[in-house]
Amino acid sequence: MDTLATKKYYLLIMIIILVSFCIGFSYLINNQESKNNITLFPENKIILASGKLIYDDQCASCHGINLQGQEGWQDELVDGLRLAPPHNEEGHTWHHTDYHLFMLTKYGIEEFLNMDYPNNMPAYKNLLSNDQIISVLSYIKSKWPSHIRIKHDQLNKVFKEN
Ligand code: HEC
Repeated sequence: MDTLATKKYYLLIMIIILVSFCIGFSYLINNQESKNNITLFPENKIILASGKLIYDDQCASCHGINLQGQEGWQDELVDGLRLAPPHNEEGHTWHHTDYHLFMLTKYGIEEFLNMDYPNNMPAYKNLLSNDQIISVLSYIKSKWPSHIRIKHDQLNKVFKEN
């Protein structure tokens, strides 16, 4: 027959299993990339400071130190590949929602769109953390003039509501 001590022991094991399950489950939910949990922070000075460092280090060599892109990006090909477009208001970066920008940067165009699309931009999933990707994209957004940022906010709002 079980003593009180063994009953307490079983109860403790059950509580530990239950708590681990809850922690694991919430971890899974929080780490799932969904359109509702990807948001850029173009007003947060701390995020922008780290975003600029990441941009200069990882993106500027192609997209330009001033986000100007590579010359001829609209129509020239090099070795059959397109050149890096600007990330300022002259490019089309701002035509994409926060979620799409994050996914394109993290997984690369081919994996995210699940299509054959040779290009030379690296996928950043093994190079930058999620927070670093959010920081660098927030920095890019912070460089857009306010009328473009307002349009982009509206785009995100419509996307998240649908
Ligand atoms: C080796 C060059 C290279 C580097 C480094 C690079 N990119 Fe790119 N990126 C490209 C090219 C080329 C494209 C355009 C691909 C195409 O559409 O054919 C692109 C496209 C993009 C797009 C899609 C833009 C749009 O309007 O469709 C985003 C977003 C982007 N890059 C973000 C970044 C970020 C953020 C970094 C740094 C963390 C980065 N890229 C680093 C070459 C690069």
